[in-house]
Amino acid sequence: MKFSWDTLPRPIVALAPLAGYTDSAYRRSVKMLSGTENVVCFSELTSVAAIHHKSRESYRMLDWHPDEFPLIMQLFGKETEFFAEAGKILEDMGIAGIDINMGCPTCKITSNECGSALLKNPQLAAEIVHSLSRAVSVPVSVKTRLGYDCYDEKRFMGFCKGVVDAGAKLLSLHGRTRTQAFSGVADWEPIYLAKRELGINVIGNGDIKSVADAHGRLGNLDGVMIGRATLGDPWLIAEVAAAFRSEIYVRPAGMLEKLPLIRQHVRFAVEGSNEVKAIRELRKHLASYIKGFEGAKMYVEKIMKCDTLVDVECIFDEMEAVLAERLVAVA
Ligand SMILES: Cc1cc2nc3c(=O)[nH]c(=O)nc-3n(C[C@H](O)[C@H](O)[C@H](O)COP(=O)(O)O)c2cc1C
Repeated sequence: MKFSWDTLPRPIVALAPLAGYTDSAYRRSVKMLSGTENVVCFSELTSVAAIHHKSRESYRMLDWHPDEFPLIMQLFGKETEFFAEAGKILEDMGIAGIDINMGCPTCKITSNECGSALLKNPQLAAEIVHSLSRAVSVPVSVKTRLGYDCYDEKRFMGFCKGVVDAGAKLLSLHGRTRTQAFSGVADWEPIYLAKRELGINVIGNGDIKSVADAHGRLGNLDGVMIGRATLGDPWLIAEVAAAFRSEIYVRPAGMLEKLPLIRQHVRFAVEGSNEVKAIRELRKHLASYIKGFEGAKMYVEKIMKCDTLVDVECIFDEMEAVLAERLVAVA
């Protein structure tokens, strides 16, 4: 099944790449809830150099399940030839598209001239896109920010035009600069301008926390991308996708109704993985899910000590029993 950004139903709803969170198990959970074609998940960023050096950990990050289709795998790096090499590997794995990270603000990435540091080197950014686009037949996209130190309209538009001319089929634009990192409020005006001026596929990103935010920010764009607000609330993606189709999505009424999805997420995570490692990596997701639940602090403490599927299931069984008792008490 060939994927194209051009033919995907609009508006697109994208799960943002979130390092340490948007792994295969989480993406599968998000897709399972939404089940619609226009929900697209982006993987967490993976280093092309690590793929080149056959790092086992990086290959593990490329794991995916067909239920996630259309999945976009995100790569970062600076070596044009490594992008071409990694791209071919990903294409052979059957993924839908490849995204290039040109927005990561962390020092670990930028000090190596990768991520948002590419905003300062538009020529290399374009060369990377060109090298990857030539090597693969799946669409290549770029995720970036409004600028490095500050927003300069001419520089930003020049950067976007450069990567589009080099072959990028879609831009995901986060309405902040590298210096802002995650502070302040995302500015969507330059994102609308990029869509208007360049006439290419553009997804807007930054600070969407609700259906109202998504409706309010969509404007002239092809879609919206949501990251942090989905943590503990993967139902938000399905809700926004339904709202964009003028449908109403029935959210789980409470924790009891959320538990089946949470349990499924845990099962996806341990499937074919080292169980202890998978459960440890999952702890932060589980803590997000139960935030706000009465007695959450005690359950989070217990979760932070979990190592196995049985440990986690026991906690959920306990929560279910407590919830059932509460229901009886209310009745
Ligand atoms: C914990 C965390 C990890 C992130 N990892 C990535 C990443 O791997 N690749 C990327 O392009 N952006 C990454 N981002 C940025 C998000 O994709 C997104 O652009 C940003 O969070 C703004 O969107 P939001 O307000 O909906 O969260 C990350 C952000 C956070 C908070």
